[in-house]
Amino acid sequence: MALLLLSVVLIGVLSTLPSPSLSLSRFSPVDYFLVNCGSPSDSLDQANRLFLGDPKSSSPWFFHLVDPNPVPGAPDIYRTASAFSKPYKYVFPVRDRGTHVLRLHFNRFRSSAFDRSDVEFHVLIDGFVVLSNFTGGHGAAIKEFFIWVDKDEVVVHFLPTTRTKIGFVNAIELLSSPKDLIPDVAHFVGNGEVVDFEGLNHQALEVAHRLNVGGPKITPFNDSLWRTWVPDDEFLLSSSESEMVYSTGRIQYREGGVSREVGPDNMYSSARVIRSVNQSVSNISMTWVLPVVRGHDYLVRLHFCDIASISLGLIYFNVYLNGVLVYENLDLTRIVNEVLASPYYVDFIVEDNGLQIMNVSIGPSNYSLPHAVDGILNGIEVMKLNNSMGSLDGEVCAGFLLRSWPRGNIGLLVPLIALMCLLLGISLVKHMRAIQVSSTVAWTKLPTDGKEVFEKQAASQIAEKI
Ligand SMILES: *[C@@H]1O[C@H](CO)[C@@H](O)[C@H](O)[C@H]1NC(C)=O
Ligand SMILES: *[C@@H]1O[C@H](CO)[C@@H](O)[C@H](O)[C@H]1NC(C)=O
Ligand SMILES: *[C@@H]1O[C@H](CO)[C@@H](O)[C@H](O)[C@H]1NC(C)=O
Ligand SMILES: *[C@@H]1O[C@H](CO)[C@@H](O)[C@H](O)[C@H]1NC(C)=O
Ligand SMILES: *[C@@H]1O[C@H](CO)[C@@H](O)[C@H](O)[C@H]1NC(C)=O
Ligand SMILES: *[C@@H]1O[C@H](CO)[C@@H](O)[C@H](O)[C@H]1NC(C)=O
Ligand SMILES: *[C@@H]1O[C@H](CO)[C@@H](O)[C@H](O)[C@H]1NC(C)=O
Repeated sequence: MALLLLSVVLIGVLSTLPSPSLSLSRFSPVDYFLVNCGSPSDSLDQANRLFLGDPKSSSPWFFHLVDPNPVPGAPDIYRTASAFSKPYKYVFPVRDRGTHVLRLHFNRFRSSAFDRSDVEFHVLIDGFVVLSNFTGGHGAAIKEFFIWVDKDEVVVHFLPTTRTKIGFVNAIELLSSPKDLIPDVAHFVGNGEVVDFEGLNHQALEVAHRLNVGGPKITPFNDSLWRTWVPDDEFLLSSSESEMVYSTGRIQYREGGVSREVGPDNMYSSARVIRSVNQSVSNISMTWVLPVVRGHDYLVRLHFCDIASISLGLIYFNVYLNGVLVYENLDLTRIVNEVLASPYYVDFIVEDNGLQIMNVSIGPSNYSLPHAVDGILNGIEVMKLNNSMGSLDGEVCAGFLLRSWPRGNIGLLVPLIALMCLLLGISLVKHMRAIQVSSTVAWTKLPTDGKEVFEKQAASQIAEKI
């Protein structure tokens, strides 16, 4: 009897937590490469993922750097870097068509090689300029991009800006994105109007902001797609009056609705809300002010999940971007098919207005009810779209940058052997996935100057959490 009671209590406790069994049925990308640049040995990152070593090359202009004074506690992948004083490219064979996520990790540590020569380089991914005149910044930085792939390979080029400069990278992640992550259609906001925008998934995107509204930082360990979400406090307009809410209940991901890969439980479990005061609808609104760069349109993804209302059908509010009413009387209950705590997101493309800031506001609407929650927001993602030159960084196109280095310095050869190995690799990986082997397959480096070809991919580089 006591045992029965205990298990009933346990079930009760468990059902209020995010289900562990659900989080174990994790997203498993078809293409998945993690490279620990600058070191021939494999290393784990903070999310326990195995980054495979990057063998040394015989080229005198490709070298490995090791941080002589690593920051205590810094992940191993930030202690080494590959550096190049001539154009260098990493080639990843891919099997999946569609959107891929590419993360480049940079940590410009103190090193005699960095001190002797200037760091300045461009990075191109599949014909898009993603970084130009980049100097590596200060401290560890992750640059994250979404790229549409309809070829058999993804090529990442590192081009030092001149013969006296060098480029570097500490780690590279390339994974195929869940199919529902970047849709084709969004709402375009320009000239005070909202119209349809098609072809979103064929743009190159760079993550500019990813905020967990009303909640703590979420690290890659706790995100279904190894993303980082930062708290929103510094972006919230101080005059905004809002209340933070946090839910310990389960987030109701619905079949056909927003998936956990679009937004993790931890993000949807916290929010900021506007509540009615003194039996009347509040007239305040919440505003976030986000810095953006001139010369680019931006994708703004707003995440909603009603974790605050006491019952269905009580929540209505308006959404404004840069002062334009972009969504009137958003009725969360109807949108999520009458399920409380069920997530929803909406995408807007905001036209460049030259102001270098983007305002996101949530406020009560004409339908808002007294005694209710009259506005909620759980997460904000802001992504930069490539400009008309195919660049995410500067008014320059990839072809122009490639031509700045004399031909011959950039290996253009696609060795047949790589293709053969790839085909072999595919069947091997398929087999390994089927039998759920948890070890990794190393890729090998071909001795081609200025180029690294990844022939095989690890079947399950995703080390288990817990
Ligand atoms: C993951 O999330 C849990 C609960 O939200 C938190 O306690 C834990 O510290 C997080 N872990 C990491 C590594 O961020
Ligand atoms: C709400 O009512 C209380 C008591 O009547 C009053 O002190 C307070 O100022 C009111 N608040 C607002 C925002 O009107
Ligand atoms: C909201 O209402 C209060 C009291 O009616 C008023 O003092 C305040 O100016 C209003 N604020 C806005 C932003 O309209
Ligand atoms: C954004 O908000 C700030 C602060 O309220 C305001 O000064 C600015 O005019 C707003 N910009 C736009 C484009 O709405
Ligand atoms: C709300 O209702 C008023 C009065 O009916 C109307 O003028 C206004 O356009 C409506 N919408 C908003 C967003 O205020
Ligand atoms: C981004 O680049 C693609 C391909 O070069 C181009 O078709 C598209 O128009 C660009 N996007 C914008 C917003 O200019
Ligand atoms: C990079 O720097 C060079 C030299 O300072 C400059 O001419 C060029 O416009 C810059 N390119 C970009 C895309 O900012």
